[in-house]
Amino acid sequence: MKAIEIRNKYLKFFEEHGHKVIPSSPLIPENDPSVLFTTAGMQPLVPYLLGQKHPEGTRLTDYQKCLRTNDIDEVGDNRHLTYFEMLGNWSLGDYFKEESIKLSYDFLTKELGIPEERISVTCFAGDSDCPKDELTASCWEKAGIPKDRIYFYGKEDNWWIAGEEGPCGPDTEMFYDTGKPKCSPDCQPSCDCGKYVEIWNNVFMEYYKKDGKYTKLTQKNVDTGLGLERMTMLLQGKETPFDTELFKGVMDKLKELAKVDDIASIRIVAEHMRSSMMIIADGGRPSNIDRGYILRRLIRRMTRHLNKLQVDLKELPNLLDLNIDILKEMYPELESQRQEIKEVINAEKDKFMRTLNNGEREFNKVINKLKSQNIDKIDGKTIFNLYETYGFPPEVTKDLATENGFKVDLSEVEKLFKEHQEKSRMGSDQKFKGGLAEQNEKTIAYHTATHLLNAALKKVIGENSHQRGSNITVERMRFDFNCDHKLTDEEKQKVEEIVNEWIKEDLPVTVETMQKEDALKSGAECMFIEKYPDDVTVYTIGNISKELCGGPHVKHTGELGHFKIVKEEASSQGVRRIKAILEEK
Ligand code: ALA
Repeated sequence: MKAIEIRNKYLKFFEEHGHKVIPSSPLIPENDPSVLFTTAGMQPLVPYLLGQKHPEGTRLTDYQKCLRTNDIDEVGDNRHLTYFEMLGNWSLGDYFKEESIKLSYDFLTKELGIPEERISVTCFAGDSDCPKDELTASCWEKAGIPKDRIYFYGKEDNWWIAGEEGPCGPDTEMFYDTGKPKCSPDCQPSCDCGKYVEIWNNVFMEYYKKDGKYTKLTQKNVDTGLGLERMTMLLQGKETPFDTELFKGVMDKLKELAKVDDIASIRIVAEHMRSSMMIIADGGRPSNIDRGYILRRLIRRMTRHLNKLQVDLKELPNLLDLNIDILKEMYPELESQRQEIKEVINAEKDKFMRTLNNGEREFNKVINKLKSQNIDKIDGKTIFNLYETYGFPPEVTKDLATENGFKVDLSEVEKLFKEHQEKSRMGSDQKFKGGLAEQNEKTIAYHTATHLLNAALKKVIGENSHQRGSNITVERMRFDFNCDHKLTDEEKQKVEEIVNEWIKEDLPVTVETMQKEDALKSGAECMFIEKYPDDVTVYTIGNISKELCGGPHVKHTGELGHFKIVKEEASSQGVRRIKAILEEK
């Protein structure tokens, strides 16, 4: 059965059981700056799970375009995807456990024809927040699953929530037994050896979690999610989603064009190409922050792996055409935006190639020098400098170095990034991951935004307002400053306007090294003077801000996006705290 047939069967089945088919929401959530992308079918439905009346009633079903990027570095293996489609059905205070389980069981066994003995299920084992879910287990038994294929696990496996706060509850998961032998006598659905594959998750959402505490919702809901790519793979008896019709055409073409045999790279290209196209079709554009940054990262990784495969980059538009042809029946938005999608991806590819070329020239100089000295290792500082000066991503340096027979120690680079971040007062809670170089682009943007905010506050609440602290993550900035009152709405608005005006003016950000004393004399702002060595770096933004700071910063304020205050609150006596975000340009 093809993916689109599974999707249609699903929607029809639930429609026949009283559900209204609602359209997929865009990948980019509407009116919700708190999340970057839609990650689950329930996300656009949160207000209705919390009790608001849905215009289509209490039984809904849809297919939802989803993107999850936490496992982006795993893409290339035989199962991880960033973009995927989730089929879902919801009861908003309508049916609950028994009917939900019966519907799932019937759909799997009767509509999809999965033999009952291939299905195992898991239920919540219970803890101090919520009792053991005996009812769910008995509903499964009643539906036809014998006791020895019903398992109980704790919150790690059988509780579902999107993030830290929101509607949530115990869930029951259905697993497909691939028929592979057990990896050990106690191999169970929770084991990831590949024998059992999770196919569907039904969440019984009757709680709300906030600040670590659970309260009961006014209505009992059901939220389910079935991963379409995975189900397609299993029903077609394939080993990976890349072997299904969703990817096969592009995979085959890539295999034909590649001069290097590297299945992981081929999968990465096919996967990231599909995600990028879907994001662009829903309005995303590459940039240095938030969603745009993720899109940029996907396109860059795709380009890098095309290079690695030695595929002529002139083929990219053809590959995109082929991919759109394959997927347009499922996603007509790809067809209607074919030209735009191709232009955006191509332009971003060109931009990245320029960065790569400049960096690669420098990289070659470095290795030639090392070779002449008979050194076979590139140290962390060199990798770090290539990034800082040429924007050359460390993981690219690592790949190239390895290809040239050099050893690299990325943990040393990690250490340098950490020191650098601490020096520049950026949040020490940031994690160094494979993509740190690019992650940094976002934190760098936030870092520059703190300087603008600092200067804007002086204009709005007075010259005596000084920075008292800051904390930056890839998602937001936090800025503490002294001030004796809660900011009024007008003051907040004024601060936002000033910062955005400076961003619009695209002011240059320049850096110079000077003696600490001279820096202070020149009027540079500084938070903890004693922390700085005698020689300091001073960052100047146009003629509006001058601060002692370790950097790094963007080169022009125009790179920042739209500045928005999301919260203003007390931090401590006489100190206020602003949380702000940079929205996509
Ligand atoms: N919201 C549930 C999930 O994403 C169904 O697994």
